[in-house]
Amino acid sequence: MDAIALLKADHKAVSKLFREYKAAKKKDSPGRAKFIDDASKALSIHAAIEEQVFYPAVRSEVPKLEDAILESLEEHHVLKWTLEEIAAIGVEDERYDAKVTVMMEQVRHHVEEEETDWFPKVREALTRARLQELGAQLEKAKKTAPRTPNPDRVVAR
Ligand SMILES: [Fe+2]
Ligand SMILES: [Fe+2]
Repeated sequence: MDAIALLKADHKAVSKLFREYKAAKKKDSPGRAKFIDDASKALSIHAAIEEQVFYPAVRSEVPKLEDAILESLEEHHVLKWTLEEIAAIGVEDERYDAKVTVMMEQVRHHVEEEETDWFPKVREALTRARLQELGAQLEKAKKTAPRTPNPDRVVAR
């Protein structure tokens, strides 16, 4: 699969999770708690494969996008902390929904920037064959990507 198509499909799956969270009743604690597990897993894998495969390739092959990549890395960094914090405070905390809402807004902003500001420039700069090749690498990286936001940190729960 084409790398950009693969990443966009991931984005779509995440926004489906977000819509489901919004539709869930506030009282549905198990559903709301499961949401953060599902969202954390999907976002951790997605961020990791972008960081391992896509961002480095874009950075070296499309130099004018270097600032966009650096900004994206910072957004991933903040997202991982937020995901960890949400899982740690738990669904009963009065700040849970507020933190989830802000996290979802930040992810939407990040995805919007990727899809509208710079993915089109990557598509322009790289050949179809190269995008297919990166797509295959992304697919492969998914298998070993971390399932949690900050796997190198031990978090006391
Ligand atoms: Fe990203
Ligand atoms: Fe992305």
